[in-house]
Amino acid sequence: MMCMATFRIPCALLLLALSAPATVAAEDLPGREIAHAQEKGNCLACHRMPTDPGAVTAATLGPVLKNVRERFPDRAALRAQIWDASAKNRDTIMPLYGRHRILTEAEIDLVTDYIHGL
Ligand code: HEC
Repeated sequence: MMCMATFRIPCALLLLALSAPATVAAEDLPGREIAHAQEKGNCLACHRMPTDPGAVTAATLGPVLKNVRERFPDRAALRAQIWDASAKNRDTIMPLYGRHRILTEAEIDLVTDYIHGL
């Protein structure tokens, strides 16, 4: 990078902008706690989340959750899957988090944001 003395301040600003994270890391999202907690989402009972190193599980019942944004470009479709998995698969074993009020609407929003970033 060309940081000549006369451009010192703009360069510093540029470096600041470059070092600021573009998006919040998935591990820092509040929905993570809800997704992982056994008394809440307990998603790890069925899903592996390999891009989150703290998501420790040997689960194989559900599909591996990674590249979720590619699978669900539309956040609303992902939220709908979490809200009522039986809409897509009548015989699903995935809990119907919204329809059965296992999680609140606000919790589902937070979980959706976290899962969308995996
Ligand atoms: C009891 C097991 C189980 C639990 C707990 C569970 N799921 Fe699932 N999930 C599944 C199964 C099985 C599927 C595959 C689709 C189906 O059979 O309905 C699935 C599918 C999905 C999908 C769609 C994946 C894709 O690529 O199509 C997403 C997203 C998802 N689950 C998110 C979650 C989240 C978020 C939680 C926690 C809040 C959760 N699941 C909890 C079993 C589970």
